[in-house]
Amino acid sequence: MIKNITSSPIFLLILISSCSDHNQFRVISPDKEIQLIFLINEKDQVGYLIDFQSKRVVDTSHFSFDFKRQNSFGENLEVVSSSSSTFDETWETVWGEQRFIRNYYNELKIKLKEKSGKGRTCFVVFRVFNDGVGFRFEFPEQENSEDVVILDENTQFKLTGNHICWWTPGDWDIYEHLFNTTRFTEIDALSKRGNETLAQTYIPENAVNLPVTMKSDDGIYISILEANLTNYADMTLKVDKENLLFQSELVGNDSGLKVKTKTPFVTPWRLILIADKAADLVSSRTILNLNEPNVIEDVSWIKPIKYMGIWWEMHLGKSTWDMKSRRHGATTENAKRYIDFASKNGIGALLIEGWNIGWENWIGTEDREGIFDFVTPYPDYNLKEVVRYAKEKNVAIIMHNETSAAIMTYEKQIDTAFALCKSLGIHPVKTGYVGQILPNGEYHHGQWMVHHYRKVMKKAAQYHIMLDVHEPIKPTGLRRTYPNLMTAEGLRGQEFNAWSPDGGNPPEHLTIVPFTRMLAGPIDYTPGIFDIKFDKYKDKNQVNTTLAHQLALYVIIYSPLQMAADLPENYDGHPAFQFIRDVGVDWDTSVVLNGEIGDYITIARKERNTDKWFLGSITDENARTIEVSLSFLDEGNEYTATIYGDAEESHWDKNPTAYKIEKKVVISSDILNLKLAPGGGTAISFILDE
Ligand code: NOJ
Ligand code: CA
Repeated sequence: MIKNITSSPIFLLILISSCSDHNQFRVISPDKEIQLIFLINEKDQVGYLIDFQSKRVVDTSHFSFDFKRQNSFGENLEVVSSSSSTFDETWETVWGEQRFIRNYYNELKIKLKEKSGKGRTCFVVFRVFNDGVGFRFEFPEQENSEDVVILDENTQFKLTGNHICWWTPGDWDIYEHLFNTTRFTEIDALSKRGNETLAQTYIPENAVNLPVTMKSDDGIYISILEANLTNYADMTLKVDKENLLFQSELVGNDSGLKVKTKTPFVTPWRLILIADKAADLVSSRTILNLNEPNVIEDVSWIKPIKYMGIWWEMHLGKSTWDMKSRRHGATTENAKRYIDFASKNGIGALLIEGWNIGWENWIGTEDREGIFDFVTPYPDYNLKEVVRYAKEKNVAIIMHNETSAAIMTYEKQIDTAFALCKSLGIHPVKTGYVGQILPNGEYHHGQWMVHHYRKVMKKAAQYHIMLDVHEPIKPTGLRRTYPNLMTAEGLRGQEFNAWSPDGGNPPEHLTIVPFTRMLAGPIDYTPGIFDIKFDKYKDKNQVNTTLAHQLALYVIIYSPLQMAADLPENYDGHPAFQFIRDVGVDWDTSVVLNGEIGDYITIARKERNTDKWFLGSITDENARTIEVSLSFLDEGNEYTATIYGDAEESHWDKNPTAYKIEKKVVISSDILNLKLAPGGGTAISFILDE
């Protein structure tokens, strides 16, 4: 660990503006490209603005808080003190997109005090990194306000133009909407109400969920996220078209409050990533740097893994979660069939859904409390025998806890549920929260649920459980502190392709996701469908990509638990399955080679603890040729590149399963031209010759 904290007087001189207006404070990024100015205006309101490469990217934006039983905080303020420092540390990840991460920033900390009234105080802390700015509010312990109810946090992000935005509606209950691409003033979240494919959805106003990513007309990319969401509510951003600004709108509950807390408290970090290349957004690890270091001492049980699942067959309708249908998927026999296949192909784990009683009435009723039982298997599923068999075959079992959003039922049983896992030696657990939250009046993204997800994460750590959370609270980088929080859904996943009446995820979907949702953290997208049209099961649905695009997703979409989602019979004997066998799940280095949001993206990743590199490149509905320099490869090595690409005739709709495999010996000075079909992709493994 390299650590270096400075706070020298010379440094302070550089940081604090000698500007004649004494009410401005300035801090710049270590590479001097980003400048943040904190200001206080003639009304004694506080705010900030941001420049990048000498251009304004966030215009004067104010912030304030509205409280219950207290005056608002945001006017009539004075700066009592300010301090600045720099921080430079390189830390090692337990798992991730890269092994070492540099946390390098300049910080400005301002103490604000009300000039009259109660004289309340608050610190605003800005951290300026080379790729963006994080800031948060810290309310210290103070006599005059101990119990705090926040009715609104009004943090503004004022844009400098009518940017192109990639957004999903500000839904308080789910993130599973398609991304929309519009100018800022065309954002219309209310038009996304009433989506019947969603088991729960609540869009109270014209707001967007985070991350939201933008591009200015002069080619600057900006994404707004939050980091370290702890004991607070998820932040959505309200669209103020007239003033061309986003303003925070915290998720609340039906009683009208947003956050209930006590001083001292801190808000999550509000994070603005800024780049002149879209690809650079994807390389940012700042969200992790704004979280606390790992608190789990023994991490020997935390391991990235590839998995299969008794899962896609339910989404296709080949089998069911429940037993009543007589097509129950989670039988001992079926589990053994999957285990045999996984074991033979070096896939480390198997998820089994529908193994426990309750699936007959799990959805579409208010009566969901007490339905699920997290320890009692269906009679045709011998849990102990399945676990024993899997162990013998060197396959881990992934436990499934679908809560159907009946939170009290889950909280009551969670110790027993996790103790069962422990007794069976099961480490990975997939949780799920389908449906409206019970108790009524709470929402998936409100403070109450943020607290629930946190409780589960901490308890999981105690029981040595790694989590894959579906219908989650969005990732905010907590995986740094709790590396047992492996992956999450929180977007429109592959499952929509199996049953969504709107035709599933369009070919461009996954060319937007890396620049938006993936900036927040790992994604359990569940890639790898080979039987793209699955006509045997459904005639109206299909996956809207080519097969090679599905392979490329193993590199593009980062997840430490990465699924081979298709049925064993669709992989068995398929030459392209070799890529899924080979591809890594834990990385030493990741290089985002190119990309434009909604068009294409190419990423190369080097596997941790081996010499292997993998590359994925995908395109939207347009065919394109992508030139990639292999300069990321280690110099002096000769690799066999196995290229899994689209065939001449490949097309996401007309011919999605056509592909070709080529082998080539390559070195780092080589250049490849990848030909991607409409909705297509290329996946490459680079393996050293023995
Ligand atoms: C929704 C999840 O996203 C999916 O993966 C799961 O199969 C179902 N819920 C049932 O839990
Ligand atoms: Ca889901």
